[in-house]
Amino acid sequence: PTNHLQVEGSCNIWRADCRAKGGSPGFKVAILGAAGGIGQPLAMLMKMNPLVSILHLYDVVNSPGVTSDISHMDTGAVVRGFLGQQQLEDALTGMDLVVIPAGVPRKPGMTRDDLFNINAGIVKTLCEGIAKCCPNAIVNVISNPVNSTVPIAAEVFKKAGTFDPERLLGVTMLDVVRANTFVAEVLGLDPREVNVPVVGGHAGVTILPLLSQVKPPCSFTQEEIEYLTSRIQNGGTEVVEAKAGAGSATLSMAYAAVKFADACLRGLRGDAGVVECAFVSSQVTELPFFASKVRLGRNGVEEIYALGPLNAHERVGLEKAKKELASSIEKGVSFVGK
Ligand code: NAD
Ligand code: LMR
Repeated sequence: PTNHLQVEGSCNIWRADCRAKGGSPGFKVAILGAAGGIGQPLAMLMKMNPLVSILHLYDVVNSPGVTSDISHMDTGAVVRGFLGQQQLEDALTGMDLVVIPAGVPRKPGMTRDDLFNINAGIVKTLCEGIAKCCPNAIVNVISNPVNSTVPIAAEVFKKAGTFDPERLLGVTMLDVVRANTFVAEVLGLDPREVNVPVVGGHAGVTILPLLSQVKPPCSFTQEEIEYLTSRIQNGGTEVVEAKAGAGSATLSMAYAAVKFADACLRGLRGDAGVVECAFVSSQVTELPFFASKVRLGRNGVEEIYALGPLNAHERVGLEKAKKELASSIEKGVSFVGK
């Protein structure tokens, strides 16, 4: 018997064990915080992803139930559950991709930065585990405040001597998903046909939609630009207020997280032309981290695209975004320095 919750393959006569050990095609993915509001639907969607061969579900509570439930889905991935700090290393060993939605969500009236005091320590501990057990894994950070938790992850990896800027990505995909939806509504298009680059970071004014670069090419009135910019920047708060104390976006976030994780896995597989927005270590601006379009490949982030031509409204937005981002990044860096 193993010390983790090996829901499939816990009996010697089950050949799933051989499939898990024998290198069936696909990637090994761990979700840290898998029993949470994001974690559960994310785990379900990852179990449906044909690129995933092994799915590790880690949490400090309730992971046995979530693992048992999800393991009954008749899709390819072998699911294993891990509960509590003492099983973190088993959960991480051998992983190709680690997705982190662990941590507390906002309640009405809070900013994402109000989550720093609790979530910074959670992300730090989890990243120490990653540095030890799967230092080459691609890491997708969802836990807020992303503008600070990604710098925290980077500092932990630097201290451990494992930092690879190409493999650490803050997930800003929900901003793009929202922007596509809201822009499609205004234009009367199918959201699946719309692509809006969203750059900067993942909080308030740091979320900078580049409406001048929307595909398919289009133009907006000043009123539409103001409405869309504000709705995209405040999309998270819109959900927090609608949930009225019961948390923040979970279902749209799980959708966005799996869309982003799938892009990372297609990159790892060697697919060409996989481009998404993410908050990464960057030289696009003078800041050490910035969200922009990146090309994903076998090594993670293989190319970071310049911002391209910005209009006057976007240039003003960029300056505001950089000011707030600089202090959020510094807050994360100094947390680990302590
Ligand atoms: P939740 O409270 O429903 O779930 C969080 C889970 O994390 C819980 O199951 C909890 O047990 C677990 N957890 C706590 N400490 C842990 C630890 N040390 N190790 C492993 N797991 C631990 O919250 P949620 O709604 O799923 O949100 C999670 C985080 O994601 C929040 O910080 C939230 O702000 C953030 N978020 C980010 C985005 C984004 O776009 N990046 C979008 C939505 C939410
Ligand atoms: C979001 O954008 O929905 C998340 O960052 C959660 C939040 O606190 O708004």
